[in-house]
Order: sequence, then structure tokens, then C-alpha cells
Amino acid sequence: MHSVKLCPSMMCVNPVKLAETLRTFEDGGIEYLHIDVMDGHFVPNFTLGTDYCKALHNISKIPLDYHLMIEDPEDRISWFEIHKDDVVSVHAEATRQLQRTIDRIAEAGGKPIAAINPATPLCAIEEVLPYLWGVLVMTVSPGYAGQKLVESTIGKIRHLRTMLDERGYENVRIEVDGNVSYPNMQRMREAGADMFVIGSSGFLTTDDAQTIAAGIGEFRKIR
Ligand code: DX5
Ligand code: ZN
Repeated sequence: MHSVKLCPSMMCVNPVKLAETLRTFEDGGIEYLHIDVMDGHFVPNFTLGTDYCKALHNISKIPLDYHLMIEDPEDRISWFEIHKDDVVSVHAEATRQLQRTIDRIAEAGGKPIAAINPATPLCAIEEVLPYLWGVLVMTVSPGYAGQKLVESTIGKIRHLRTMLDERGYENVRIEVDGNVSYPNMQRMREAGADMFVIGSSGFLTTDDAQTIAAGIGEFRKIR
């Protein structure tokens, strides 16, 4: 089983305290900074953009976990500055060219992840498994922080882990995003997830550095 990686959701970080919060993440050994990029079409919201991601690369060494909730991502991969340890997820529902999008992420030096919404079946990503670094199982409908878990996604994580292992894709990671509270993370881990996006249901309920540090310590207890 892959080791647990914690990926705090940057849209849930108070921008006024960005530098201080990044230091807390570095001290806590945070593996990835999760960046929600929303285009107002694929999801009903706008969030973080290309300049913000560049700024993060300049002020932190933690790799980025781009979550592109944008239509036709194949035409926009080149807009992002992708560093060698960065991971990039694109939604299977957002492109008619999933293979091409994955290829472009890999060509740009990133690690490709295919993301699927709660209502999207696992077969949507079956054919691209040989080309993936990971699969992102959305555990809420993407667009907003602070939503409630879609229960059926726990069973979906379990089915995906079994499918990956049975077909020889043990190396493919499973990321989960949405309502990753402490008890939900325990259930998701038990089902086979290894990358956890932590937002307003996790240790980003506050912008206080000490409280966030304590939260990271708590969440690290889940192994
Ligand atoms: C949902 C976003 C998440 C969100 C998760 O569309 O992709 O990153 O911030 O945080 P929660 O669900 O805990 O508020
Ligand atoms: Zn996300």
C-alpha cells in the first residue's frame, strides 16, 4: 500500500497568512500543495490561476498538485509551469481527448492523474490506466469547499483499489478530494486511498499556525 500523502487545499488557506501557513506546511512535511483551478464552465466557480501557481513555486519547495477543473484541458496544459515533481489531474468528463491530455501532461514533465466526479463510473478511466500516475476520486461534486461526502464514493475507492491491484497497476495512486474529515479519512484510507486533499473539513478550519500544525500531527496518525 502506498504511504499516506497530505495535500492541503490552497483555496482554503487565508491569503493574508500565506507565507506563514506555507512554513507550517513545510515543518509538517506536507507532500503536495493542492491547487483548485476552476474555470466557471466545468464547475460553477472561479478559484486559483496560473500566476498564483507560479508564485507558490517561487516561495515554496513543496510540489504542486494541480487539480484542473477546466474544460478542454488539453489546450491549456502549457499555460501552467509544471515542475518535475508536480502532479496534474484532469477530469475525464472535461475533455473529449483524455489520452491526448494525459500525454501532454507527461510531455510537460508532470505526473498525470485522471479525475472522476462522484457520478462517473470507473470504466471512464479504464483504458488510460497504463498511462496514469494516479486516479483522483472526487468524494464531493467539485466546485466548492465545505460540502458533504457522497457516500457511494467510499465503495468506489475500494472497487478502484481492487481493480488496480488485480490488473497489475499496484503503482497507481488513489487521491481523494472533498470532505476529508478525520473520520472520513480513516474510512477512505481503509478503502485504499493514499493521497488526501485536506480543506475546510480537515485541519484548515482555522488560519492559526499552531492549530494547523497540531492538526497535521493528528492527521499523520492515520497510516
Ligand atoms: C472541492 C475542492 C476541494 C475542497 C476540499 O471542489 O476541490 O479541494 O477545498 O475541501 P473540503 O471539502 O474539506 O472543504
Ligand atoms: Zn481539488
